[in-house]
Parts: sequence; C-alpha cells; structure tokens
Amino acid sequence: MKAFVKSGSPVTFKTDALVVGVFEGKTLGITGVAIDRALAGFVRKSATSKGFEGKKGQALALDTLGRIPAQKVFFIGLGAKNEATEESIRRAAAIGAKAVRNAGLKNFATTLATAKVSGVSAKNLAQAVVEGATLALYRFEQLKTKKKKKKIAHITLLTQNTSEVSTLKGGANKGLILAEAASFARDLINLPGNFATPSYLADEAKKFAKRLGVTCKILGPAQIAKLKMGGLLAVAQGSKEPARFIILEWKKGPKSQKPIVLVGKGLTFDTGGISIKPSANMEEMKSDMSGGAAVLGAMRAVAALKLKVNLVCLIPSTENMPSSAAIKPGDVATGLSGVTMEIINTDAEGRLILADALAYADRYKPDAIVDLATLTGACMIALGTVASGLFCNDETLTKQIIAAGEETGERFWSMPLFPEHEELIKSLVADIKNIGPRWGGASTAAAFLKKHVKKGPWAHCDIAGTAYTNKAAGYRTEGGVGLGVRSMVRFIEKRTGV
Ligand code: BES
Ligand code: ZN
Ligand code: ZN
Repeated sequence: MKAFVKSGSPVTFKTDALVVGVFEGKTLGITGVAIDRALAGFVRKSATSKGFEGKKGQALALDTLGRIPAQKVFFIGLGAKNEATEESIRRAAAIGAKAVRNAGLKNFATTLATAKVSGVSAKNLAQAVVEGATLALYRFEQLKTKKKKKKIAHITLLTQNTSEVSTLKGGANKGLILAEAASFARDLINLPGNFATPSYLADEAKKFAKRLGVTCKILGPAQIAKLKMGGLLAVAQGSKEPARFIILEWKKGPKSQKPIVLVGKGLTFDTGGISIKPSANMEEMKSDMSGGAAVLGAMRAVAALKLKVNLVCLIPSTENMPSSAAIKPGDVATGLSGVTMEIINTDAEGRLILADALAYADRYKPDAIVDLATLTGACMIALGTVASGLFCNDETLTKQIIAAGEETGERFWSMPLFPEHEELIKSLVADIKNIGPRWGGASTAAAFLKKHVKKGPWAHCDIAGTAYTNKAAGYRTEGGVGLGVRSMVRFIEKRTGV
C-alpha cells in the first residue's frame, strides 16, 4: 500500500472514495457541510434518517451519484471531540478503510488527519490514520492459492492547509513504516510452525538487517552450547530443528548512550514437550514466537526510521517438542547466568530460554532491558485479551511503557512481583524451579526471569493474552496482532528523547 498527502478540497478531489470523520453532535464539521452542499442536502437528510450522530463506531455510507468526483463518501463517527485520542482516530481510519475495500473500491482520500485532537500533533494524527488503515487492511495470504480480489492500492491524506502538507507527509511515512513492521510481525506469527522455524526467523532477521544496515549475528547450536546457554539448549534438545540465538545491533545513538535491550521469546511451536498440552487449539501455539516477532518488527521500524538511538534485540528461538531426546520433568539445567533450574514442567519453557537472553543482555551494560513473551496462561486469566501484563523493577520504566502503550493503543497493566513470589520458586535440588504453585503463575514466571537479570531497570511484558486474537476488531485482524512493535518504538522514542 502507498500513502500520499495532498492539499485540496474533498469536494473536487479525484478519488474512488472519501472517508470523513465526524465528531459527535449536531454539526457535520466543515468537510461534512461542504459535501452536504455539493450533494444538495443529501448528507444531512441521510444522517437524520439513518440515525447517524457521529458516535464512536457509527458509519454512514453515501453514493454521490456523480455530483462530486468521489463515487462514495463514508462518514465515520469519532465520538465526543474532547475525548478523542490518537487511538480513536486510528480506529476510525480502520473502519473507513475496511468500508472502502468492502465496497470494492481501489483507493480513498481522507480528511481524518486534520481532525484536530487536543494534545496530539498533526504529524502523530497522520501517522495514526495510516497505521489504522494499513493494519486494518492486512491479510495473510502467503499460503492461499487464490488471493482476494478486493484490494486498496493507495490512500491519500487530504488537507486544505498547504503549509501542513510536509508535516503530514512525515507522519504518513512514519505510519507506513510502523504498520509495515507490525504486518511483518503478523506474517511471522501467522506463518505455521512448519515454515516459521528458528532458522526461518533468523533468516528473516538477516534479510531486513542487511537491507537496513543493522548488525546481525546468528548463533547456532554449537555457539549456544559454547556460551553455556543451558536453558535454550535444554528446550531445544527435544527437537530436530536447530536452535538459533538472534542478535541485532543498531548503534546510531550517541556513543555515551547505553543501549536499550529488547528481548523476545522466539518459541516457534510450543507443544508443551513431555508435559504435553491438550490438543484443543494447540495450533495457536505457532504464535509462541510473538514476542520475538515484535522485537524483530521494532528493530526493523527503528532502522527504517533511522532513529538516532542505540538498540539491541535478542531472540532465543527453538521449538518445544516431546521426543526421546527431550527434557524430562525433574531435569536440571544451568543457565548462562550460572543459576541452576529444575524443570518441573517442560511446558514452562519460555522462561528457560528467556533466562539465557536476559543474562546475555548484561554484556551490553544496558540502560534498560525489556522482554516481551507469550509466557503464561495465568496472565491471560488475569487480564484477558485487553492488556499485557507488565512486571517491572523501576518506576520510570513502568511509566514510560504504560504511556507508550496508551498512545499506541496497546495497553500494559502493572502487575506485582513480590519477594513472596520469589520464595515460591525455590527448588529442593536446584537454585530455582520453573513453576510455582497453581495460583499467581504470571508473577512466579516473572520471578523466575528476575533471577537471571544481573542489574538495572528491567521490564517483563507478558503478552500471552494480547499477541494473538480469534476475533478481528478495529485495525486488529484475526491471528497475529503484531502487538508490541508500535509500543516498543514509541517507548524507545520516549526513553531516549529522539
Ligand atoms: N506459551 C505458553 C503460554 C501461553 C498460553 C501463551 C496461552 C499463549 C496462550 C507457555 O509456554 C506455557 O505453556 N505456560 C504454561 C506454564 C505452566 C506450565 C506453569 C501455562 O501458562 O499454562
Ligand atoms: Zn509452554
Ligand atoms: Zn510457550
């Protein structure tokens, strides 16, 4: 998809369709009034007869019958003006884009980026519009022999204010980069486990790294063993697919600036191992590399945006399989940190592989470490699918991640990690064990990770409930969400001040 910015009037602009935002209330807004006039009062009449009041989620589709160049106009309700946010504009763009595509039209122009939302810059609004539209139109068709015909080739952000064009262009371009990075993450998540193996993830990382000037190192089984990454090795020993440890480095920030290290769980398929999972919905466990996909997407966006920051991404990647070579309940592995780990349940494998990545992060003397992982069903039980669990040892870092999530429409909710949780994972035979009692499973998982973090601010984001969805909503399509890509980039911007 392409995104353009043009100055012009919606009434005369040549396009297949127009998407126009309308705040809740009695007026149609300047654009709505202009279109209404061009259509001889048809807009107002239709709005009244169809009960369109500009409420959030409402839409009104009108045929223009040749009175203006656009064939159709879609009015999208934005809700109360004083409650509007970047996110409500993103969602409005999604509704508009989907309506245009459903109508079989090939492109549209929209005035949504000029909506004037208090506290949000015009650039950020333009970004939100392009993100919302692009992500809503995402489809995973790699494995379909027949692709869907209805397709939107480009969108145009329209403004009547010529001096605003270059600002909006900056935002639109950024929105496209972020949406493409999140779509890349979605593709990796949606791709089944027989395609998306650890080596596939590594190859995809290598590909974009080369294109964008990111340093990429891939460690294979021999190097992983040499480094003594005992957690990753233990999980990988049951699979014929060789493990990978993916390292990406982007050092375009000041030399004096310590890097932010992002860690992502890259479990390409989680059967549970010997502690095997029930069959129902097990296919969804192809999404257990969503944290890794998010981190790859974030790096891809940071590099494409040429952000002047220092960023390192670490992705431990393997399958979790049952086999005669697989780890058994009761086995003990030693992580890179030196901590010995009793594996009570082979299905609590994410923490084993993350342990090594978190320990590896220490060699960068990081400013902060943030990990993203589809770690526990317990977090899903706690927060459902609307927020990711955030476990963090630093108040500033907590605030930055929550704020970044709020702005990007990816909610994070602060969860507790008490000393009592750390007590619960003490092992009889090793330093720690990989599961605690039944209750509080998200916190004991976080406590396990904490044991491998040497020092400094660290945040763990449990995205088990948010990374994958069975129901499309707004700009979220069914399947991989690409969650974390946009919020992590926003977080990096906030933290470094770029
Ligand atoms: N990958 C799963 C967690 C998960 C569950 C992700 C549902 C997405 C949706 C993880 O490896 C796992 O199996 N966790 C276990 C831990 C338990 C054995 C302590 C869980 O949450 O059931
Ligand atoms: Zn598991
Ligand atoms: Zn898992």
